[in-house]
Amino acid sequence: MNEIQVIDSLERLGFPENCIVETILVTRNQDGSFNAAPMGVTRNGATLIVRPFKSTQTFRNLSLGESASINLSDNPHLFLATAFKEDIEDQPKVDDTGLEGADATIYSETGVMFNESELRASFSLTPREVEIKSSYPTVFSRGRSEAIEAIIHATRIQVFNDEHRDSEVQKFKDKVKDNLDVIKRVSAEGSQEYIVADKLLSLITKWGVSM
Ligand SMILES: Cc1cc2nc3c(=O)[nH]c(=O)nc-3n(C[C@H](O)[C@H](O)[C@H](O)COP(=O)(O)O)c2cc1C
Repeated sequence: MNEIQVIDSLERLGFPENCIVETILVTRNQDGSFNAAPMGVTRNGATLIVRPFKSTQTFRNLSLGESASINLSDNPHLFLATAFKEDIEDQPKVDDTGLEGADATIYSETGVMFNESELRASFSLTPREVEIKSSYPTVFSRGRSEAIEAIIHATRIQVFNDEHRDSEVQKFKDKVKDNLDVIKRVSAEGSQEYIVADKLLSLITKWGVSM
């Protein structure tokens, strides 16, 4: 794809310039296997910028400069499973075709690291090919959106709880409670987001954080 085609495709997929959107990034581990993790990305022209924490496997893999795929989905289970891989049994398949269940996959080349701070660093990802895997439109769901929001907050609770930063833990606990309230209001008990909310609650409790 040339640059104009990349920009056109990214705009149609909902990547506005300079806005952070949430994706699931698949990178290659040193042993050749694949790693999936939710990551925010920001479009800058025809490139996408990702900013992983240095503690993540994604950071280590991107530092190796291998190609990566950016996978698009609003499925809360995919975000939960890939954010907490060691705790969630039902894992999607990941390989060089991307993440199983993604609505679209953007195959990209990884650029050099820049904007390095003590905790994080940026990498530019240059899209080479876009594969649309599900062309049927989906409705906006507050329940799905709040479930993904709750998963982001839970990743911070885990880090701050390990560091015994109690006031930060409390702040993110309150946010998760608000997210879960909305899910319980708008989503049915058997819905995917309701199940994700329940799994998230038991995970947080397992870390020794009372909800
Ligand atoms: C929607 C969403 C967006 C996230 N964005 C980022 C991000 O931009 N940078 C980051 O380091 N972690 C982000 N996280 C947290 C990571 O996904 C999480 O720490 C994950 O366990 C990292 O996995 P890894 O060690 O396999 O890379 C995000 C989590 C969610 C749910």
